Amino acid sequence: MHLNCQKTGQRLLVKVGLSGFLSFVVALLNNFDNPFIVQSGNSRNFPLQNLSSDHHLNKFSAMKRHNFNSGPSILPQEVLRKASEAIIDFNGLGLSILEIGHRTPWFTEVIEEARALVKELMGLDDTYSVLFLQGGATTQFMQVPLNLLPVGGQAAYIKNGIWGTKAIKEAEVFGKAVTVGDTSDRNHSYIQKNFTVDEGSSYLHYTSNNTVEGTQWHSLPAAGDTPLIADMSSDIFSRPAAFDKHALIYAGAQKMLVQRAPLLLLLKMRYLERRVEISPRFWIIRDILKRPPC
Ligand SMILES: Cc1ncc(COP(=O)(O)O)c(C=O)c1O
Repeated sequence: MHLNCQKTGQRLLVKVGLSGFLSFVVALLNNFDNPFIVQSGNSRNFPLQNLSSDHHLNKFSAMKRHNFNSGPSILPQEVLRKASEAIIDFNGLGLSILEIGHRTPWFTEVIEEARALVKELMGLDDTYSVLFLQGGATTQFMQVPLNLLPVGGQAAYIKNGIWGTKAIKEAEVFGKAVTVGDTSDRNHSYIQKNFTVDEGSSYLHYTSNNTVEGTQWHSLPAAGDTPLIADMSSDIFSRPAAFDKHALIYAGAQKMLVQRAPLLLLLKMRYLERRVEISPRFWIIRDILKRPPC
C-alpha cells in the first residue's frame, strides 16, 4: 500500500512537473547547475545551461542536500531523471515536451494522467474535477468567493493564521465573510475548534496547515452541512486526510509538489451551479473546465 502510494506519487510528480513545463524547466536547470545548493526562496535566478552534455545528467546521481525551508520540496531523483528525459525527447517523439502544443493528444495524455493520479492518491471519485491553474494559492483567495459566494450571500472563514487572514480580506471584496474560530488573540498559536457556522453560509474556509505559525488541523473543522473548503498549500499529500469531505481543495503546487508550477485545485462539481452575477469570464471555473488543458 505504502509502496503503491509512493509509486503513484512519483508518477504524479513527473506529470505535474511536465504540465508546469516552463517554470519547471527553469527550476530543473537550477538543479543541473548546482545540485548542492539549498534554495532559500523563489527569487534566485540561475543561468540556463546546455543540456546536451552528459556531464549535467551525471550530476543526478550526486548526493543532494535537504531543504528545510517551507518549500519547494526535494524531488526524488527518479522524478528529475524522467522529467529531464521528457524535456530532451518526449516519449521518443523526437521533440521535447516543451516543443509540443498543449492541445496535442501527447500533451493531453500527460495532463489527464496527472489528473487521474491526483484522484487516485486522494481517493476521490469522478464527482471531483482536478484543475491545474495559474496564479498560485493566493489567486484562490479571490477565485473561491468569485465562484462560490453568491451575490448577497455570506461565507464563513476560520482565522488561524496569516494565510487565512489574507483569504478573509479578499473574500470581503466579494461579499460578507464571517470570521469564526479566530485565534488572533494569542498570535495564532493554537487551533480553536469550538465555533458556530451561521446557517446559510455558502461554505466554511480553513487553512489545513498554517505555514507561518506552525499549527495544523488534525481533524476536520465542524462545518455541519456547510460545504468545506481547504487551503492545503503546505500539507497536501503529506498525510492521509478526509479529502472527500471537502467541496473544494486548493494548494499552491510549489511547496509540496514541484517548483513554481501551477496551482492544484480539486472541486466537487455540483457546487459550481451557484450563480455568479458579475465576474470576468476568465476566472469562472465552470468556463475553465470547458477550455482545453493548459
Ligand atoms: C497556507 C498557504 N496558503 C497560501 C499561500 C500562498 O501561496 P502562493 O505563493 O502559491 O500564492 C502559502 C504560501 O506560502 C501558504 O503557505
